[in-house]
Amino acid sequence: MEAQLSALKQEVLEKIQAASTVKELQDVRVAYLGKKGPITDLLKGMGKLPAEERPKMGALVNEMRQEVTAVLDARMTELEAAAVEAQLANETIDVTLPGRPVQIGNHHPLTKVIEEIEDLFIGMGYEIAEGPEVEKDYYNFEALNLPKGHPARDMQDSFYISEELLLRTHTSPVQARTMEKKKGEPIRIICPGKVFRRDNDDATHSHQFMQIEGLVIGENIRMTDLKGTLDLLGKKMFGSNREIRLRPSFFPFTEPSVEMDISCFKCGGSGCSVCKRTGWIEILGAGMVHPNVLEMAGYDPEKVSGFAFGIGAERIAMLKYGVEDIRHFYTNDMRFIQQFERTEG
Ligand code: PHE
Repeated sequence: MEAQLSALKQEVLEKIQAASTVKELQDVRVAYLGKKGPITDLLKGMGKLPAEERPKMGALVNEMRQEVTAVLDARMTELEAAAVEAQLANETIDVTLPGRPVQIGNHHPLTKVIEEIEDLFIGMGYEIAEGPEVEKDYYNFEALNLPKGHPARDMQDSFYISEELLLRTHTSPVQARTMEKKKGEPIRIICPGKVFRRDNDDATHSHQFMQIEGLVIGENIRMTDLKGTLDLLGKKMFGSNREIRLRPSFFPFTEPSVEMDISCFKCGGSGCSVCKRTGWIEILGAGMVHPNVLEMAGYDPEKVSGFAFGIGAERIAMLKYGVEDIRHFYTNDMRFIQQFERTEG
């Protein structure tokens, strides 16, 4: 029985050593020292021993139990301390770690161009106007002196949604809408927005792009006012040394109609690849508001006159920043966008 006892003690001590967590050690305690464990069994079996051996064996078992309990308690203290330490290490915050950098975005080049133009015109007392991208045929064409079947409608291949609704092909319908709203009052507006045309996308064409429309209506608004305004715009966008020239053109809603060129900002006018060796770069379309357009919107062409212009925002941005493919503006490649400085505000 003594040999049995010492083998059991050896076994328990090994189990205690092998336990590597508080839980495992608790299991050892229950298994060996618990009420159903082998030590209890031993004590219970003492009844079968001869009477004179009982006290000696009882003492030996108790001694063994105390020893094992002490070793187990010590190990338990150790494991509990280790567990606390591990938890603390886990929860520690290293305040010396570098913070995560806050990413500061920058403005899209088209936003920059539009805001720059808006700023210029707001400074001259213009208001910002907006209109719907899904437009009525009436405002997109008819109210702009383009009746149904007019051949000039083909100049702007359209996405029709129904017989009477289309994606606007230009921002000019906002002219007609604003005139209707202002009911004969003077107008000075600038209107940026998306426009859509049934074009095949390539380096210089996009089925969706942005225009900025300008409209001024009042008494004695003359062609020279238009020219002075466009001159200012050209200088603001491409530098104070720029000159402008107006070439005759055609738009059904303006008469006379012009296209505006600026002297090439790259070569200064001597001819280079940017201006296709002409010294001039085409920038926008403009003209004096056609009397029919004024009349349809309830203005008296005998009393008031006005000018209008339409700028392609992409074209300005491509020239200004040397962007060679219009598709870069829409594909959201961060490497493209991050090349543009952040503008405040
Ligand atoms: N709406 C014209 C276009 O998209 C531009 C334009 C606007 C011309 C205003 C004259 C006056 O081509």
